[in-house]
Amino acid sequence: MDTSTILVTGGTGYIGSHTCILLLEAGHDVIVVDNLRNSDVAVIDRIETICGRRPLFIEGDVRDTPLLEDILSNHPVTAVIHFAGLKAVGESVSIPLDYYSTNVGGSISLLTAMQNSGVHTLVFSSSCTVYGDPASVPIREDFPRSATNPYGASKLMIEDILSGLHTSEPGWQIARLRYFNPVGAHESGLIGEDPIGTPNNLMPYLTQATAGLRGELNVFGSDYETPDGTGVRDYIHVADLANGHVAALDYLEKQPGMVTVNLGTGNGVSVLEVIRTFEAVNQCKVPYRIVDRRPGDIARCWADTRLANDLLGWKALHSLEDMCRDSWRWQQSQQG
Ligand code: NAD
Ligand code: UD1
Repeated sequence: MDTSTILVTGGTGYIGSHTCILLLEAGHDVIVVDNLRNSDVAVIDRIETICGRRPLFIEGDVRDTPLLEDILSNHPVTAVIHFAGLKAVGESVSIPLDYYSTNVGGSISLLTAMQNSGVHTLVFSSSCTVYGDPASVPIREDFPRSATNPYGASKLMIEDILSGLHTSEPGWQIARLRYFNPVGAHESGLIGEDPIGTPNNLMPYLTQATAGLRGELNVFGSDYETPDGTGVRDYIHVADLANGHVAALDYLEKQPGMVTVNLGTGNGVSVLEVIRTFEAVNQCKVPYRIVDRRPGDIARCWADTRLANDLLGWKALHSLEDMCRDSWRWQQSQQG
């Protein structure tokens, strides 16, 4: 791909920061817009430490359309990667208006600013949550979609807004990327996921419990119809996920249109397999106990990755061992 200027919304966040590193390393200029609701501006310094180049950081809200128009008219931006949003399922049930405003309202604001500025290339962060409880696995992109909470509903709405926009204005180039379960951290230990409060997701809770910062890990359910009875997911290293965005930009440059692609490894891994691999790779003991199922959880979820392989020429390269090693290194670096 030719080098250009990419606007990254939510670029100080977990997945955004890893993507900024790859974009800078590929020679692109990067502008980050983030309101720091769930991230720290120090991430910009760490990105510079890792790759020797620095994104331009603008603190702001994606719902501020004039700000985005200002950025798009003052910089030669050719494409936008839109990560900014709220992502906690449980919280979305408590504060749905915030979720719809930030995720749906923020996306409409961004699309409006892009339209008014003549920038028509977008990569959007969707989620495997749009598949609800799939009838079978692996999950293909043409499987039915559904949502059972405001977070999932917001992703469905944005996907629909993007397809409506593309139908009405076919000149748009759009990639809707459906992520499976991102884990891991940058191999430097400088960038990773830093959830506020008690983590809901498996890997951050597991690393904090192993570090002695939390009580035992609750393994939610051992009576699922899976090989060992615990839930099975498609964990993907965040560096691979970040790379999928560069591949998507590359694809859109050559092949205008709208694509919807799963980003996963294609491998289903159970909770107990994660724990055992984590212990083996890091030579440690994960404190855990089996408890009841978590309401709303599904038994199995993993991606059919053929479309990503065929269309984007992209494939996840990191192993579960890499994910466990890098997650632990990040956790330890957090404790200084
Ligand atoms: P994150 O919370 O680490 O990053 C999101 C960033 O957006 C944060 O830096 C936050 O400060 C910023 N932000 C929030 N509201 C904003 C606003 N109104 N204006 C500007 N910035 C705002 O989350 P992440 O894990 O990096 O996720 C990035 C995207 O990927 C999100 O859209 C999320 O829904 C999606 N996604 C994440 C996962 C996951 O498990 N991490 C899975 C599927 C999809
Ligand atoms: C979560 C989100 C989903 C999102 C996905 C990928 C919820 C309800 N769903 O799903 O919308 O698309 O992440 O980011 O938050 N587990 C434990 N103990 C724990 C935590 C988790 O046993 O303390 C188990 C779960 O039961 C599941 C697996 O670990 O089997 C993964 O859980 P989690 O990391 O929360 O991700 P998902 O449930 O897949």
